[in-house]
Amino acid sequence: MIEVYPDLESLSRAAAALLVKQANLAAAARGRFSVALAGGATPRRTYELLAAPPWADQAPWGRVHVFWGDERCVPLTDSRSNARLAKEAWLDRVPIPADQIHPLNCATDPAAAARQYEAHLREFFAGEPPILDLVLLGLGDDGHTASLFPGSAVLEEGERWAVAVHLAEAGLSRVTLTAPLINQAAMVAFLVAGGAKAAS
Ligand code: 6PG
Repeated sequence: MIEVYPDLESLSRAAAALLVKQANLAAAARGRFSVALAGGATPRRTYELLAAPPWADQAPWGRVHVFWGDERCVPLTDSRSNARLAKEAWLDRVPIPADQIHPLNCATDPAAAARQYEAHLREFFAGEPPILDLVLLGLGDDGHTASLFPGSAVLEEGERWAVAVHLAEAGLSRVTLTAPLINQAAMVAFLVAGGAKAAS
């Protein structure tokens, strides 16, 4: 389903409302809500809205578990960190228990971090099918999402849930959830803003 909004603010308000709605449905049905967050700039406003009324007052924060769809392999305090973005804009401002926020720290060893994150996810799902309740994704001008870039080998990954990728031109490694895990999610929502991406 594609929903078109006139501007970033209305897109962000719809995304905040969607997350709160899905969180309440999942918490009522299964006692918890798991979400994997998007990085990049687009979701910032959504995260800010989730930290303020009315949405901050409507979500079952004590039942929310936060993961990331991908992370840049920089310190979590680095301005490029997707975890820093979400924590500053939102997560540090709502009462989600700290042990239910699962940042992906791959600053020192991306490959090991990917294995550890997958192990963490396997522990979270405890043998049940790894069905995240919601995955928020962005979209790059080149059509990439998370850190799944067109033509990259990671798109062929059929088993792993998280892998490290290296972007030579950016001189940056990342860890990303893989398509098999993302595609098992109960819901995936792409937050896309800007005319340059309309064709994507
Ligand atoms: C990242 C994201 C990436 C992002 C797109 C869109 O870590 O950069 O996961 O997939 O969502 O590049 O980024 P913008 O929202 O900044 O355009």
